[in-house]
Amino acid sequence: MFPTPSTSHVDYDQVYEPSEDSFLFLDLLQEERSFIQERFSDSSKLGIPTVLELGLGSGIITTFFHNYILPQALFLGTDVNPHACKTALETSRANNGTRYFDVLRTNIWDGLRPNTVDVLLFNPPYVPADNLGSYESSIKSDDWLDFALLGGEDGMQVTKIVLDQLDFVMRDRGVAYILFCFRNKPEEVAKAMTDRGWSVKKIGERKIRWEILSIWRFSR
Ligand SMILES: C[S@@+](CC[C@H](N)C(=O)[O-])C[C@H]1O[C@@H](n2cnc3c(N)ncnc32)[C@H](O)[C@@H]1O
Repeated sequence: MFPTPSTSHVDYDQVYEPSEDSFLFLDLLQEERSFIQERFSDSSKLGIPTVLELGLGSGIITTFFHNYILPQALFLGTDVNPHACKTALETSRANNGTRYFDVLRTNIWDGLRPNTVDVLLFNPPYVPADNLGSYESSIKSDDWLDFALLGGEDGMQVTKIVLDQLDFVMRDRGVAYILFCFRNKPEEVAKAMTDRGWSVKKIGERKIRWEILSIWRFSR
């Protein structure tokens, strides 16, 4: 069991506090370690792998991934929350993290570039809600925490945009890990993505109180 990165410096009034969803991510990435290392073992032919985390929050997932899963990769993370971007860099540093890590404060869909990503990590805002976080009111109040959880219709509004962009952003050898809650209807998503030519696998799930969280792997 690899240790959980320290986030004791993080101000949870400003940045999403690592929770059961974040910890499920760490546990299942650990189980995926051999698969990932084998897939990206030959960087002499295919280049150094590029890892993109969408919605970094505290940076706990990227830091863990760098420290224990794929230390030789290049890392980029994005978040709409400016405090999250700054905090994620601090988390990396506080845990002996990478020089090869940068952050971009952006909306998820503006941060995607064609054919650039080898590993995509995404713990999205997945809670069904009437709306998403509002940029205007967050700018005014400097409170960005609504963005962390509110996922709009079926909790899928943001995740759907990412799924629709996978063909565009992922390299051929690329692999995406995305978390869902039960109300996101992940089985239906898996079927739709399979029909679009993706190989889809549930790598694990966990029941947390009344919620069932699962993480799915998308590859070609
Ligand atoms: C559930 S939190 C996950 C945080 C962290 N990755 C973790 O696992 O602890 C979702 C993150 O996505 C970010 N986010 C939500 N909607 C976004 C958007 N439209 N553009 C960029 N980031 C967004 C939030 O600010 C938040 O940090």
